[in-house]
Amino acid sequence: MSKSSRSEVRSTHTREEIFEHPLIEHHRREQIRDWFQDCRAQTLALLQGLDDDSLCQQAHPDFSPVGWHFGHIAYTESLWLLERSAGLSPLFPQYQRLFVADGLPKGERTRLPKLLDLQHYLKTVRTQVLDYLDIAPLDQQEPLWRWMLQHESQHSETIALVLELLQLGYGDRGLKVMTEPFTASMVEVPAGYFLQGNDSWDALDNERPMHRVFLPTYWIDRYPVTWGEYQVFMAAGGYEDSQWWSRSGWAWLQANPIQQPLYMPKDFASKDSGLADATLNHPVCGVSGYESEAYARFVGKRLPTEAEWEKAASWHPDTAQRHTYPWGETLPSQSRCNHGQAMGRSTPVNAYPDAQSAYGCWDMLGNVWEWTASWFDGYNGFVSYPYKGYSQAYFDGEHRVLKGGSWATRSYALRSSFRNWYYPGVRQIFAGFRCASDRCH
Ligand code: AVJ
Ligand code: FE
Repeated sequence: MSKSSRSEVRSTHTREEIFEHPLIEHHRREQIRDWFQDCRAQTLALLQGLDDDSLCQQAHPDFSPVGWHFGHIAYTESLWLLERSAGLSPLFPQYQRLFVADGLPKGERTRLPKLLDLQHYLKTVRTQVLDYLDIAPLDQQEPLWRWMLQHESQHSETIALVLELLQLGYGDRGLKVMTEPFTASMVEVPAGYFLQGNDSWDALDNERPMHRVFLPTYWIDRYPVTWGEYQVFMAAGGYEDSQWWSRSGWAWLQANPIQQPLYMPKDFASKDSGLADATLNHPVCGVSGYESEAYARFVGKRLPTEAEWEKAASWHPDTAQRHTYPWGETLPSQSRCNHGQAMGRSTPVNAYPDAQSAYGCWDMLGNVWEWTASWFDGYNGFVSYPYKGYSQAYFDGEHRVLKGGSWATRSYALRSSFRNWYYPGVRQIFAGFRCASDRCH
């Protein structure tokens, strides 16, 4: 992963300088080429060890088989960069119906091209895309190219979770991390304005426009909730007691009778053994939004709103500035946070001191996505990009926002303003949560 080259992009040049100066423009083209190659290398690594059968297996009715995602990645690149931008005619018209986003229902995506054909599809499209990159008018298209990287990254995360459900994930990479003392507590975020959202070239439609938001004083957990903490809720019969659950949460639990998060570590299965110490400080993973809410109520707290989460992650009150990452503008690296499948699993919430936000929150990016209390919606002045089905189709009051990215999220989709969304009943994603409160605990 050539992350060093990525760090050069946050240059001090203005948009105008970049496109009027041929040398800088050439440099930016090469930058995009590097990113595309880095991102694709990570995507192709996911294919290792898969065969024609595993590509077509549907692990869960809500998620397409992994082979579909590979084809859809190629199709999307071909549609937006080759057809819509370069003006070429469709490369593989026979694949359109299968791989277009709103084509076949998820359950009918199991008859897929063979592994070799999918590889050929990805490669053929990509070769033409990189040829086009030599001449593409980047001054108009830069956001589209960056969108494409994030699209591939997001589908790759879905591939990773489907492989996890099929027990075909490549698992723990065996890398060790050091931890700092665990000081469970909440941090105070004093009342005031902050800037929510993002207007940079990386920002997706749903992050725009950046806007001022006032929040009264609140408190938010320093860390995501850990297995050690969540264990108390389970042991107290939290899954049998309706008082902790919202109405819709309890109805969901009755329809989906479960007793524990989906990705609970195996060493927790036997009651006697308890959690191995090594796992106690890892974040809870594989919880629905409903379980997150119930735990929060159990400890006398609540889930943060998206704005509360984002302010705690991105606002620097001393300088009255927002930053892209909790620690500032330095691009994410593996020493800052657990992302991009480098570890192959979660890490302790107290492992990355250099990632703290200005308010002292740890582990806000990477490790696990964090459920918020907010429904996914467009900000004032929202404009769909590149198509309505990307975000706007989900402004339906039924999807909750998740923030922060997981151990499987690539750097291209990792920033405090990034918004993910799922139904609150989904527990297959790599998601946990942290709590918030209106008072000091
Ligand atoms: C934002 C992750 C829910 O994967 O369905 C990919 C992202 N949108 N292609 C998804 C997305 C179009 C989306 N999530
Ligand atoms: Fe897609």
